Amino acid sequence: MKIAIIGTGYVGLVTGTCLAETGNQVTCVDINEQKVTMMQQGQLPIYEPGLELLFHRNIIQERLFFTNNLASAIENAQIIFLALPTPPGENGSADLSYVLGAAKDIALLITSYKVIVTKSTVPVGTADKVSAVFEQYTDVEVAVVSNPEFLREGVAVEDFMKPDRIVVGTTDERARRLMSELYAPYVRQGNPVIFMDERSSELTKYAANSFLATKISFMNEIANLCELVGANVDMVRLGIGSDDRIGKRFLFPGIGYGGSCFPKDVQALARSAEDNQYDFKILNSVMEVNAIQRKVFVEKLKKYYGGNIEGKVFALWGLAFKPETDDIREAPALYVIDELLKGGAKIVAYDPEAINNVKYLIGVKISYADDHYEALQGADALLILTEWSTFRTPDFDLMETLLKHKVIFDGRNLYDLDKMIDRGFYYNSIGRQV
Ligand code: UGA
Repeated sequence: MKIAIIGTGYVGLVTGTCLAETGNQVTCVDINEQKVTMMQQGQLPIYEPGLELLFHRNIIQERLFFTNNLASAIENAQIIFLALPTPPGENGSADLSYVLGAAKDIALLITSYKVIVTKSTVPVGTADKVSAVFEQYTDVEVAVVSNPEFLREGVAVEDFMKPDRIVVGTTDERARRLMSELYAPYVRQGNPVIFMDERSSELTKYAANSFLATKISFMNEIANLCELVGANVDMVRLGIGSDDRIGKRFLFPGIGYGGSCFPKDVQALARSAEDNQYDFKILNSVMEVNAIQRKVFVEKLKKYYGGNIEGKVFALWGLAFKPETDDIREAPALYVIDELLKGGAKIVAYDPEAINNVKYLIGVKISYADDHYEALQGADALLILTEWSTFRTPDFDLMETLLKHKVIFDGRNLYDLDKMIDRGFYYNSIGRQV
């Protein structure tokens, strides 16, 4: 099939590359000329495990193309994906100007039936708004389809190639057939393509992310309670997760969820509920708990130092909002850094992928180490903020020689509690006893 992808951000690039991998002819369009030139030369602008291989292969085999020219990209395309940013607007709801702007540009160019797919996370009713733009600017028939993405950063290629499910919102029979054909190679193991109306599909995306965020906030509260009542959250997690109705995944407490999706989507759903005069109580609590959780971590640290962290040197392991990404959007680490600096502490940070992004954002207010052990040199304590695999089985003997004091505040529960106690560390983690 011939496909056009409008927008080569994270979602657009992964979608385009993975669609090319199964034999489609994919042209990705972006207004950023520099970025397009870079991609034409085979340079991938984002870090995502496994993507580079597919990206290169499909460029070489001439199935994946990049251009600034919208007209040529959509000319023969049967399906046009809109993978454009929907940043939070002034009141917390998603700003649709990029999506609606692109719809207008496309409407003015098309001459034959097209399936227009919104891939971006958009509020309920957006498909209708996009349809209205087409009705206004062209007589050509189009079907506007909602097809939310459920890609996790760090495992996006796997999520795309082997999805748990694909949700397609359309009431247009021709669009339904084309979308079934397009996704057939990805659901060969029997995972469903779930067809529904556009509004249900749009809401599914928000409901999925908000439900997952709710699980996390719930576990963070259980963890806080564990610390007070002398329980161990690891045990509670195993105890409840073994019930299929609850499930084992997404029950890990920590320093709160971050990233470009959960914070934005939970807020947007709450706002959308409010706009419809519905008081979505749980969502407000989910957000409140998340904001508190990172504070709780810093408060525990300050308490350990009797309320004064001035002049203390902290080694930070992990800056990205989660492992296997260089993304620092809404990363809890940024909040922690801010609070430590306000308290007069010094910071030496290490992250396998996100250092450049942090440098770009906050520069020389903190120091950066070339590897995780270097960060420990002379530090008063180690703070673990992202659960990168490289931090999971460190050389504790070496750590003991490098750290000034054997103190670890672990926001991601990486180590066995008893082992840390045996080694004589002061080990403060989440939802477990010190
Ligand atoms: C999330 C969803 O998982 C994807 O399905 C969705 O497509 C994506 O948002 C999106 O809307 O684009 P992502 O933001 O990449 O994906 O990251 P997750 O792996 O879901 O993690 C989100 C946050 O939750 C991270 O800060 C992570 O540390 C935190 N988390 C996750 C926990 O604190 N505990 C857990 O048990 C799991």
